[in-house]
Amino acid sequence: MNSTSVSELLKGELLLQEITIKGWVRTFRANRFIALNDGSTINNIQCVVDFENTDPEVLKRITTGAAIEIKGTLIESQGKGQSVEIEVASIIILGDSDPESYPIQPKKHSFEFLRENAHLRTRTNTFSAVMRLRSALSFAVHQYFNTNGFYYMHTPIITGSDAEGAGEMFQVTNLDIKNPPVTEEGAIDYSKDFFGKETNLTVSGQLEAETYAMSLGKVYTFGPTFRAENSNTSRHLSEFWMIEPEVAFMDLAGNMDLAEDFLKYVINYILENNQEDLTFLEKRLLDEEKSKPQKDRSELSLIEKLKFVTENNFKRVSYTEAIEILKNCKPNKKKKFNYLIEDWGADLQSEHERYLVEKHFKCPVILFDYPANIKAFYMRLNDDEKTVRAMDILFPGIGEMVGGSQREERLDVLLDKMKAIDIDEKELWWYTDLRKYGSAVHSGFGLGFERLVMFATGMSNIRDVIPFPRTPQNAEF
Ligand code: 4AD
Repeated sequence: MNSTSVSELLKGELLLQEITIKGWVRTFRANRFIALNDGSTINNIQCVVDFENTDPEVLKRITTGAAIEIKGTLIESQGKGQSVEIEVASIIILGDSDPESYPIQPKKHSFEFLRENAHLRTRTNTFSAVMRLRSALSFAVHQYFNTNGFYYMHTPIITGSDAEGAGEMFQVTNLDIKNPPVTEEGAIDYSKDFFGKETNLTVSGQLEAETYAMSLGKVYTFGPTFRAENSNTSRHLSEFWMIEPEVAFMDLAGNMDLAEDFLKYVINYILENNQEDLTFLEKRLLDEEKSKPQKDRSELSLIEKLKFVTENNFKRVSYTEAIEILKNCKPNKKKKFNYLIEDWGADLQSEHERYLVEKHFKCPVILFDYPANIKAFYMRLNDDEKTVRAMDILFPGIGEMVGGSQREERLDVLLDKMKAIDIDEKELWWYTDLRKYGSAVHSGFGLGFERLVMFATGMSNIRDVIPFPRTPQNAEF
């Protein structure tokens, strides 16, 4: 590279040296001060122009959003607000920006407006900070697993089994949908489809990851996941990224330890490596909080919240204990919940999960041993034959961050459960094979990466932590 990054320059080590820098103009004031940003840091570098000796035509083209190249000398700043600045010797306009129509003006924009301009929103401080943190977190994910002896496995995106049970699926086909081939019975003839069978986009890599855990021992997937649910909430995407470790010879207790250790590690990673972006987002949140009534304000700042997670144990609570707490809590007794908790067996809604983590325990909570009939078929049945070795990890402000379980390793029990919910044995022959040849206790979990990014950045809408969100009725860009 024949230029230096802003983050490098701001370290001040290149003082009095001649440098070249390329970036986008954030602001240009008094025909003299350019605030330049190149994405390498939340901070801009101030470039001071000698306007009397600069071509007026060039000065005119230094507008917000323009891409420019500057040559000059890094000097100690004469003004307040920065320690170093660039004394500009020459400017080349690399790409003009029309100041009239450029959407990212140097003022506060609403997140809704920026979502409509998602191709340019990373030119704002907030979104550049969020996306740098997203990148750092994904690096930390790989680093954690790599240093702990896990193998990274790429599970398929296109799946031929519709039995995964994790949600509604998007179909993949190259049949002519206006005129599909039909069988004698009048149904669509998928034997003529591209793969010779009905196929969908995956809702989870778990079942395939299990196959590798049962040979490589410790594996994880980290890839895109698709769910065609019509849930238009601030916590759901139709396309999201999921991290799914799967480990042979590990039981549910080991699974909880792994998930807790993993979450603490990745959060610690950004606390250690992304201080500037976190501090910026913390300040943003504090400003936002000021507009809320006192009672709705958060007790902890963003960084305090992250440290709280890394420094405290998650609370482990069985589903049965949780139901007792919920049955007797104020909002249930005063009928404030939309779904009242009356009996054991009720499926927990996000209002209940949030009550447990935000009001009752005030810390991340691992709920385990759920009723079998509200959880997936592959979860290990407990000896009580009523509950399964499932676990969900609930986070303040987010709700469910992780869903996982010890897997049913006994062939007969698994087959019975599949039969009970009409899953064709033939369809999952490879999955049941694992229980025929060297079956063993094994466990894993799935963590929604965007929910982690939401927690780490304090952003309240999941659409603002993924570059181009896919949600019902929306696949722009
Ligand atoms: O609880 P889920 O559905 O679990 C599974 O898919 C298992 N197969 C995982 C496993 O055991 N390997 O999803 C796991 C996590 C949730 O806890 C949540 O964080 C996230 O994935 N998630 C979503 N994130 C964004 N948008 C959605 N529509 C999501 N659905 C689930």
